[in-house]
Amino acid sequence: MFTFEVALEVANKVGGIYTVLRSKAESTVEELGEDYCMVGICNERYVAMEVEKMEPVLPQMKRTVDLMREQNIKVVTGRWLIEGYPKVVLFDLDSAWDKYNSWSWELFDKTGIGIPDHDNETKRCVLFGFLTAWFLGEFRAQCGKKSVIIGHFHEWLGVGLLMCRMREIDISTIFTTHATLLGRYLCAANVDFYNNLDKFKVDIEAGNRQIYHRYCMERAATHSAHVFTTVSDITALEAQHLLKRKPDLILPNGLSIKNTQCMHEFQNLHAIAKEKIHNFVRGHFYGHFDLNLDKTLYMFIAGRYEYSNKGADLYIEAMSRLNHRLKMINSEVTVVAFLIFPASTNNFNVESLKGQAVVKQLKETVDVIKDDIGHKLFDLCLRGKLPNEEQLLDRDHVIKLKRCMYANQCSSLPPIVTHNMTDDANDPILKQIRECNLFNARSDRVKLIFHPEFLSQTSPLISMDYDEFVRGCHLGVFPSYYEPWGYTPAECAIKGIPSVTSNLSGFGCFMQSHLSDPEAYGIYIIDRRFKSYLYHFCRMTRRERIIQRNRTERLSEFLDWSRLGMYYTNARRLAIDRTHPEFLETTRSFSPTGSVRLPRPYSAPSSPFGSRIASPCPSDAEED
Ligand code: UDP
Ligand code: G6P
Ligand code: GLC
Repeated sequence: MFTFEVALEVANKVGGIYTVLRSKAESTVEELGEDYCMVGICNERYVAMEVEKMEPVLPQMKRTVDLMREQNIKVVTGRWLIEGYPKVVLFDLDSAWDKYNSWSWELFDKTGIGIPDHDNETKRCVLFGFLTAWFLGEFRAQCGKKSVIIGHFHEWLGVGLLMCRMREIDISTIFTTHATLLGRYLCAANVDFYNNLDKFKVDIEAGNRQIYHRYCMERAATHSAHVFTTVSDITALEAQHLLKRKPDLILPNGLSIKNTQCMHEFQNLHAIAKEKIHNFVRGHFYGHFDLNLDKTLYMFIAGRYEYSNKGADLYIEAMSRLNHRLKMINSEVTVVAFLIFPASTNNFNVESLKGQAVVKQLKETVDVIKDDIGHKLFDLCLRGKLPNEEQLLDRDHVIKLKRCMYANQCSSLPPIVTHNMTDDANDPILKQIRECNLFNARSDRVKLIFHPEFLSQTSPLISMDYDEFVRGCHLGVFPSYYEPWGYTPAECAIKGIPSVTSNLSGFGCFMQSHLSDPEAYGIYIIDRRFKSYLYHFCRMTRRERIIQRNRTERLSEFLDWSRLGMYYTNARRLAIDRTHPEFLETTRSFSPTGSVRLPRPYSAPSSPFGSRIASPCPSDAEED
């Protein structure tokens, strides 16, 4: 048996599908060994850093690739430099444009689906699909009839799968959808989605949004697959109504805890990473540094920039209310609430860069003076003299310090956004922040920072990778409206960081059905009526937060691919059962994936308040 896993996000980071493939690789390679290969596109930006190029060893694979290269297709083969070191075959789409006309004609001829000339994204999908079908067809021919070949296709539009079936290539196919195209569009347009799932006139809705051809491709792939799967119950329901096929199986998304788990180290790592965020915050609030960092909580929302689908609207609204409530009680707590969504920008803004530079300068000056004073103090003490203040801090020091402090004055408020936005006036996040009047004023207890770019260690502002940033924060807030799975809260959990998720996200529903008391584990599942979790969180003591992080981190093993990988194994077995049952050596029944439910943690308080917040906080009344 040979398995190909096909996706646009192999060694090409876009969103959560990249995380599925990357984190699952090790457990899949462990199970399938050399009979496993990923197929994707060649995005030089990532390939240069993440792929070790090498020629295929397997003769059938080598011949297949050579045949394609003979026809001027650029094919990169090698290994993805991640845990598991999986084989990859990546196609350079630009080398295939001269074949586009004949392929789009074949697609139309065989399926009746025509691609509008202006839709470049779909045209690239057609290229990828036909290259994949060509590759798999050739590989099948090279292998002869002796073995089963599985093609596991992840989204986008599934043209490769469709063409394998149309050309009657003997591949056992699995299609995993991570969202439906129409669902994403409808939700982004703010329709009452979940209450009307069974009522949408799908063809008309897709037509109205000029995505009918895309919709047809997705639906055709869904119905052509031997096994159709998705990532959560909530998306299964959506697929049933919008794509008109009930998924055969649900394949929940896991993570690889081996890379991230460091036993009891995670509490220390939280403190170290938090210190780095403190450094950024010192620079960002220069001239207005009125926060007590020991009483500052870091919260964040992150993901692809889908304003309402990801719940950014709710996040800002909640922060505005939280600000009001914390002000009302004269709280000493400051919340710095980050928003991390890549948007179109013209680089960092001057104010943000200046703040970091000014504070760095001050720190360096203080360090030099500190050394000077140290030497003097040592010298004087050696001579048996106890120095007075003036002897230590001389005029030169004072002048240097004053110069830094004057540079540290700033009349405008600390920036809300760290970059120059291409369309500042119409950006939905900035528009809402303006409406809420949340401008990082001194009196505000909640400060907002919008970072419209994914995080990177090489950034001059927040010099941290996303993973490290998550560790340093206190709470992730992901109140999504449309979220087939949602990796972000799961990634928080395995680092011991509690998070808010929603009962409309696949992950939220999964946790709800597998944990008896999700909140005790630091998973707050809102029902989009948004209860006051954030306020309660701000009233927890440091000790309560430490205990909660310990509990949250216990979910790691539960979310690891070593446990969740079996769902994928079952999907492959089902595909073989439906195409080549003779190859299923043993029994035809599928290993039960078993539903495990974790009890309340022993350390969770048993008082009636315990199910609302992790530890009782008697002075707070329950509020909605
Ligand atoms: N992410 C990232 N850098 C960032 C912010 C987010 O790499 O600065 C990643 C994050 O680790 C997660 C992915 O983006 O794996 C988002 O996946 P999710 O499933 O939450 O949503 P999607 O974008 O696929 O809808
Ligand atoms: C970890 C560290 C402690 C630190 C604490 C801060 O537990 O091991 O040394 O005091 O984090 O917690 P906080 O929730 O205030 O960031
Ligand atoms: C999609 C969904 C996201 C999910 C990811 C991986 O991008 O939007 O919710 O986590 O796929 O399945």
